[in-house]
Amino acid sequence: MTTMRQALCPLILLSLLGCGGDTDGDRAGPAGFDIPAGFPEPKIPADNPMTAEKVELGRHLFYDKRLSGNETQSCSSCHEQALAFSDGEVTAQGSTGQFHPRNSPSLTNIAYNATLTWANPVLTELEEQLLLPIFGEHPVELGATGKEDEILGRIAADSTYQRLFARAFPAETDQVNWDNIVRALSSFVRALISGDSPFDRFAYQGDGSALSPSARRGLELFYSERLECHHCHGGFNFTESTIHAGSVFDAALFHNTGLYNIDGNGSYPSDNTGLYEITGRSSDMGKFRAPTLRNIAVTGPYMHDGSAATLAEVIRSYEAGGRYITEGPYAGDGRANPLKSGFVAGFTLSDGEREDLIHFLESLTDATFLADPRFSNPFQAGGEQ
Ligand code: HEC
Ligand code: HEC
Repeated sequence: MTTMRQALCPLILLSLLGCGGDTDGDRAGPAGFDIPAGFPEPKIPADNPMTAEKVELGRHLFYDKRLSGNETQSCSSCHEQALAFSDGEVTAQGSTGQFHPRNSPSLTNIAYNATLTWANPVLTELEEQLLLPIFGEHPVELGATGKEDEILGRIAADSTYQRLFARAFPAETDQVNWDNIVRALSSFVRALISGDSPFDRFAYQGDGSALSPSARRGLELFYSERLECHHCHGGFNFTESTIHAGSVFDAALFHNTGLYNIDGNGSYPSDNTGLYEITGRSSDMGKFRAPTLRNIAVTGPYMHDGSAATLAEVIRSYEAGGRYITEGPYAGDGRANPLKSGFVAGFTLSDGEREDLIHFLESLTDATFLADPRFSNPFQAGGEQ
């Protein structure tokens, strides 16, 4: 069996992903989700163990507009399942109309992210991070600040929630509180695991025909030293910023990919300076986390600020070794950004090779995940389970 898989598995993948190893189908993970073949055990905080009941409660809260101050938005307003829990917008707009400077990221395989959000090295736990969209005021997303008791009242009065909270937190009385809301939402987000794309069937499930010849050529390009993509988007989750139960160190890595160079010294737009915003170190200007590329075909527009409309546009920027913006307030030659990563040096692709690379990226789309009823809106007809 293993030998057979190894025969199907390109050598380069074998060394990078360990494909062809002991990955015999999905395994039961912590209650609430299955671990796909090829994936390690996720790291779950000891004080918020996964349970199917918390995931189900979290699913309801995720889709519930009553969680926002003015009842106009839920998490799903910016994180839609059909778009791998991104929103299709350039940058996000909160419940009171304020714009967020950043693009809403996909919530694919968040349980494995070493750090959370586009460029924050210290935000590592969902239980902490989710306070931002709920209570944050700069910018306002759900806008719960100042309406905490009113929102709890709306939820506590609903008999469905009374049942769901009692099941999720059976040892407690007065279960409807913000700590438990955040615990349940975190559990739901951790359950959003995607590992059933054509690429997974090819690399981990022994199905040599799951990728078209073009996508296979794209795969070889992706892992080549010419393109260097895998240095930052490597591993089972297509980002080196990954953590799991067996990790020995926290790999929190951030890179400048030469998208901007406003002043010739490497400046990025002032509302999106990346890691620099947190550390204040000038060398951290424009550094962002390499996001997962799973489901990337459905999560455009791309980059931290949604400034690349298509995958072809993203690839052309890497081909050029950065982005040259000729006019407007952000004009500048990103190719010459002095803070740019050495892995973004540029390369040449033929039109056919670019197509192949796009076909490979498209093979990371997991149709099961995008329509999985366990992650769908429970308030829509037929959704209640
Ligand atoms: C107004 C749109 C909006 C709403 C509403 C919203 N988010 Fe987000 N979400 C974003 C944006 C934008 C980011 C990126 C923030 C950053 O990088 O600073 C983000 C980031 C995240 C992340 C981190 C993802 C990663 O890749 O590290 C998680 C998890 C998340 N949101 C979950 C939620 C949950 C759960 C809710 C509901 C409580 C929610 N979001 C509500 C727009 C939104
Ligand atoms: C030096 C590390 C590095 C290398 C090499 C690299 N990337 Fe990236 N990639 C990143 C970072 C960091 C971001 C986010 C940048 C930002 O938003 O400013 C990103 C963003 C992306 C995105 C958009 C993701 C999203 O959710 O919006 C795609 C697609 C992508 N890269 C594909 C590739 C491909 C294909 C290659 C090889 C040609 C490649 N990357 C090489 C670090 C890298």
